[in-house]
Amino acid sequence: MDGHQVIRVLRGKHILLGVTGGIAAYKAVTVASRLTQSGAVVDVLMTEAAQRFVAPLTFSALTGRTVRSDLWSLGNGQIMHVTMAHEADLFVVAPATANTIAKLALGLADDPISATALASKAPLLLAPAMETGMWESPATQGHVQTLADRGAFVVGPMAGRLASGAVGLGRMAEPPQIIEMARKVLGRNGSLAGVHVAITAGGTQEPLDPVRFLTNRSSGKMGMALAASARDFGARVTVIHSPLQVPVPFGVESIPVRTAVEMRDAAFDILPEVDVLIGAAAVADYQPAEVAPQKIKKKHGSLPIELVRNPDILGEIGAQRKASGYPKVMVGFAAETEDLLANAKAKLESKKLDLILVNDVSAPHSGFGVDTNQVTLLDRWGDVRPWPLLTKDEVADRLMVWVARKVHGKGLADLGD
Ligand code: PMT
Repeated sequence: MDGHQVIRVLRGKHILLGVTGGIAAYKAVTVASRLTQSGAVVDVLMTEAAQRFVAPLTFSALTGRTVRSDLWSLGNGQIMHVTMAHEADLFVVAPATANTIAKLALGLADDPISATALASKAPLLLAPAMETGMWESPATQGHVQTLADRGAFVVGPMAGRLASGAVGLGRMAEPPQIIEMARKVLGRNGSLAGVHVAITAGGTQEPLDPVRFLTNRSSGKMGMALAASARDFGARVTVIHSPLQVPVPFGVESIPVRTAVEMRDAAFDILPEVDVLIGAAAVADYQPAEVAPQKIKKKHGSLPIELVRNPDILGEIGAQRKASGYPKVMVGFAAETEDLLANAKAKLESKKLDLILVNDVSAPHSGFGVDTNQVTLLDRWGDVRPWPLLTKDEVADRLMVWVARKVHGKGLADLGD
């Protein structure tokens, strides 16, 4: 699995990608390619200067669409840039040079990008790229502010090595960040807009001594897929996580912890402002009774370690739900190797959850560490839905549909799967 599967918020979306004349134009090739592979329809528009850095043919080969590099091409009997402007769901300009930013702010329309942007009501996402001096100049800053005041979204620029060889602010954001920002912008009015979703993720680490700890094989992939999906549905998202093997998605708040106790305390700290809590963390049920202050030395014979119970995070939160009224919706995962449904049902009831997803963690391609998961969803009212083997992103997207329905108190008849 290379991560290039269809992403729900991008599927079928019409995205205009404006490429202007900067050295970072070569990175726009990756943006175009990944957006297309994720299910979006991508039309690339290029300024004349951009074509000095990358050939239009590269973009048309990757997107399967004609690249627009002049103002005068006709489509459906209309001037093409007007047609495209009306059809677009999002207009990304990457890289956005100082010159193009100025044109967009002033409403000039003398190239395919500025003319289409002027005619379009689609949200505008800029990824500026230029020398530090140009970026910091009052002119550019004023234009960026003007565009932001009109509702444009800006990602970057980042600090780093620039085309001139100097190091400073002005590097274009990396393609993954631009794509994540595009997902966030497209999903901003989604069915979880205005909802705060908190997710626990990763395997907790229970220290034995200053250099050793007890943990499990959780990578955090499931939890981070849930976080990205909830964000794409428009939610404000906070992840409370132990150390992860994957990054926290762009636009998601992160509360790093190590132990189950720290995770429990962090969850209770933010609970009054949380609408939806999803427990994807593999929380250690036990911790060492004592943490040695110094590194434990090797001795003859065995080394017995006494373990004591950790708090049951979802259990404690579930127990106070009725009295406090929050969180409105609670979802758990069950990591099982036998009697999947019976064990999951028992956890659903004892932790007072609305939904639980049970994964067979002994099956190949499912559960810990991998990019895919095969889960069965159980609903507190007895609904049982076995889902096929899906990527973790797809599991997350399917779950968010259920979560959104629960949040809005709507019936479940139209859920489909
Ligand atoms: O991180 P990945 O590598 O992507 O792997 C994903 C996963 C397998 C970890 C994930 O899909 C998963 O199943 N997470 C839950 C793992 C787990 O601890 O299951 P459990 O059956 O022991 O616990 C049931 C539920 O109670 C879980 O929601 C868990 O977060 C929660 N719990 C468990 C113990 C505890 N002390 N406190 C809890 O809140």
